[in-house]
Amino acid sequence: MPVLITIQTASPPNISLHQLRQRAERLMRLCGCAENELSILLIDDPAMAQLNEQYRNKKGPTNVLAFAMQEGEGVQPVADLLGDVIISLDTATREAMADGVTLHQRVTILLIHGLLHLLGFDHERSRAEERSMADREKQLLHQLLIEERRGKVVTLAINVDHVATLRQARGISEPDPVLAAGICELAGAQGIVVHLREDRRHIQDRDVRLLRQTVKTKLNLEMGATEEIIDIALEIKPDMITLVPEKRRELTTEGGLNVAGQKKKLQEVIGRMRKAGIPVSLFIDPDTKQISAAHEVGATFVEIHTGRYCDAATDKLRDREFSLIATAAEEAYEQGLRVNAGHGLNYLNTRRVAALGTIEELSIGHAIMARAIFVGLDQAVREMLALLPAR
Ligand code: PXP
Repeated sequence: MPVLITIQTASPPNISLHQLRQRAERLMRLCGCAENELSILLIDDPAMAQLNEQYRNKKGPTNVLAFAMQEGEGVQPVADLLGDVIISLDTATREAMADGVTLHQRVTILLIHGLLHLLGFDHERSRAEERSMADREKQLLHQLLIEERRGKVVTLAINVDHVATLRQARGISEPDPVLAAGICELAGAQGIVVHLREDRRHIQDRDVRLLRQTVKTKLNLEMGATEEIIDIALEIKPDMITLVPEKRRELTTEGGLNVAGQKKKLQEVIGRMRKAGIPVSLFIDPDTKQISAAHEVGATFVEIHTGRYCDAATDKLRDREFSLIATAAEEAYEQGLRVNAGHGLNYLNTRRVAALGTIEELSIGHAIMARAIFVGLDQAVREMLALLPAR
């Protein structure tokens, strides 16, 4: 068995050992030592303090210790055994809370650190080695996360607002966005999105209520963070909400939310939604500052605004915008946020975004509805689905 996990703590660890083993095996593959064996020992602070004193002459617990096989006194090296990585779950739990990450993420980082020690890295030898170890840690974490996302399906959530726009133009009951949502789902869409605007220019309260009853996949309610709409969301309980900035005179959502500039307010809304069991996504521009703020305020998802990429006038500009999206998606993913993307995506520019390993769901409306006029909604949805990476 290449990875042996032993637990020696009084209370059961709040972590999936199956996932930890999978991550350890992946990491060993990424480090080129998949054929070796690794022992991971999960202990508590008192046991760690003892080891820390015994082997490093230091008082108190530490987060991780690594003992290469060759270091064992009087022990004959076992050819395939790399050594032991010993992690204090107590310390890891405290550090996870301080960093705002899950215990699983913190333990992964400690495991990478320990594994690199076993492979000969030592940050205590020099500043240069410290930097090279930190770089390798970052690189491994990045590769690991990308590998985990790879192979996962990118889902398509369809925004049916435009169907309601057409209905409202006549002020009658047709076409019905609720019916459109059903057709989208039957064609294979994995989610339905509607934006209940304060001015009710397209989607109406009745639509959201009916969709809550009829959508079988996932209902994502896009909304501004106003009291009236928050109350409706709390009552209707969509499967998730996406908070967007909303201006009365805009034709469509123009820019991303300024999360960094309204952390307190968003934290409060996210807290209320969390109590009601509704995950929150924040629609943001591909910007590091906004991603960190989204993480800080406790969002579950971010939806990265793809508008500038889609609207870029030249290939050069498009490439630049794409690279901003790719970097932002990676940053968000690494911080433990789930990552969606949308706005302006069409049949020509979607494939590239969908191929990014970090994005979970695309939210697309206009292009699909525009194509549906000519080929029918069912066909338009299927054509978009065909552009997403194969399962
Ligand atoms: N995501 C968000 C947050 C939006 O506001 C919109 C537009 O309503 C979309 C995605 C879909 O954009 P489009 O209609 O251009 O596909």
